Amino acid sequence: MSAFGAQSTKPRLADAMRQLAGAVAVITAGRGPARTGYTGTAVFSLSIDPERLVISVGRSSSSYPAIRDSGFFGLNILRADQQAIADRFAGRGGVKGEARYAGAEWKETPAGVCLLVGALAAIELRVEEIIERHSHAIIIGEPLSIAASSVGEGLVYWRSTYRSTANERALAADGFVALDGAGLGLATSQAGRAIGVPGASEPSPDPWRAAPLAS
Ligand SMILES: Cc1cc2nc3c(=O)[nH]c(=O)nc-3n(C[C@H](O)[C@H](O)[C@H](O)COP(=O)(O)O)c2cc1C
Repeated sequence: MSAFGAQSTKPRLADAMRQLAGAVAVITAGRGPARTGYTGTAVFSLSIDPERLVISVGRSSSSYPAIRDSGFFGLNILRADQQAIADRFAGRGGVKGEARYAGAEWKETPAGVCLLVGALAAIELRVEEIIERHSHAIIIGEPLSIAASSVGEGLVYWRSTYRSTANERALAADGFVALDGAGLGLATSQAGRAIGVPGASEPSPDPWRAAPLAS
């Protein structure tokens, strides 16, 4: 029994984390023909003063040794129309290493970090600390240079599909209707789409909604 009631199959952590929308970034690693990189959503801002961010990278990926050995990496936050770049750096179609950089324009910093021209934001980072844990390495990065745009929509990954932040804006324009009395219900849009946590009474195709809250 989960907090949301009986379920036929036990959800795994990945099933829950699919519900957490993430901005899509391309993390660049290595130099020249040894360049590689990956598409990542496990990115967060750790500290404002001093400015630091964190990525979590698979230890078996080609990018991890490249970042560890060079001590630098790039973080490129993608625009909604850059899904093809995300696919390449996720290794879809079997594209590996430097070939992932084809079809897009890059600028190389003096430290040898590749930054994507036309990204929503591009940050050059120095590795401050690496914490190897389980299958992944948590890497704390110190920004060396930062470029950011305030226009354009972002690329988001949610429930295993790419979306544009423009869609989120359209949903917000619908307006909130209500939260249920206990404060645990779904906030709904006027179109009746579920956009909050489970528990409200309206019918919905969302599988979470089929499971009543445990008393
Ligand atoms: C939307 C999305 C987000 C991802 N986020 C991460 C991540 O945060 N960390 C990670 O190590 N891999 C992540 N991956 C998987 C890597 O992109 C993929 O394993 C990588 O490209 C493999 O590189 P390699 O073939 O060079 O080892 C993500 C994939 C996708 C499609």
